[in-house]
Amino acid sequence: MRSINPEIIICKNLEEIHRNAAEVLVGLIAKTLLTQEVFSLVLSGGSTPKGLYKLLAEDVSLQGAIDWEKVHIFWGDERHVVPKHPESNYRMAHEAMLSKVAVPEENIHRFKAELADAHEAAADYEKELQVFFGLKPGAFPRFDCVLLGMGADGHTASLFPGTEALREHKRIVVANWVEKAHTHRLTLTAPALNNSDFVLFLVSGKDKAEALRQVLEGEKEPERFPAQLIKPVDGKLVWLADKAAAAKLLRH
Ligand code: 6PG
Repeated sequence: MRSINPEIIICKNLEEIHRNAAEVLVGLIAKTLLTQEVFSLVLSGGSTPKGLYKLLAEDVSLQGAIDWEKVHIFWGDERHVVPKHPESNYRMAHEAMLSKVAVPEENIHRFKAELADAHEAAADYEKELQVFFGLKPGAFPRFDCVLLGMGADGHTASLFPGTEALREHKRIVVANWVEKAHTHRLTLTAPALNNSDFVLFLVSGKDKAEALRQVLEGEKEPERFPAQLIKPVDGKLVWLADKAAAAKLLRH
C-alpha cells in the first residue's frame, strides 16, 4: 500500500481497501468518542462498501473495536424502493452489517424510500436530520464521517452528471431525477455531504480508472464529474483506490 499526497491511498486490491477503511473507521470512531457522546456515520450504497460492512461485523480482530451503542447510522443516498427491495442500500447494509452488530434500532436512520412520492421521502429524511442534529432552518448537519463510492461516470451518492441536484445549495436532501435510470434517487446534496469532519471514498476496479483520473487530475467539470463537488468544509478527504482504479493517475 502506497500512501501519497493529497490523502490518496493506493491499495493492492478491494480487500485491502476494506481493511484500510476498517482501520480508519475504528480509529476515527474511538478517537471521536473520547470527546463526543455519539458518532454520526453516513453509509454509501452500491457494491464496493459491502465487504467493508461485512468486515466490521464479522472480523474477529474487530470484535469490540467499535462502541456500536454510540454510533448513529445514516445513508448518503437511497434508491426509491422499499427497504426489502434487492436494490435498497438500507437492505444491503442491514444484511451485511447492521443485523449483526449491537447498534440500537433507534440509532439507524434510514430513508423512508417506500413513500410513493420521492419528494416526500426526501423531505421526510431532511426533517429526520434536522431533528437529530437540532438544526435551525437553513443549517446543515455536521457528520463525523461520510463514506462515498464513485460510479464509472464520476457520480457519487446519487449526484449524477447533468442532474438538478448538482446545483442544489440550500437543501440537505433532495429527490433527484436520473434520466438514464428513469427514476428519482434520494440523495444528500453536495453541501450536506461536505459538512463532514471526514469523507472517505472507496473506489475499486479498472472501470473507474478514467473517471478517477478526471475527478482527481482533470479539469474542474463537476457537471460531468460530480465527485469533484466533494470537498469537506474543515474536514479531511481520503481516497482509498485500488491499483486498477488508480491505473490512469499521472500525478498520484
Ligand atoms: C449507490 C451509491 C453510489 C455508488 C456508486 C458506486 O446508491 O449506488 O451511493 O454512489 O457508491 O454508484 O457503486 P459501486 O460501488 O457498486 O461501483
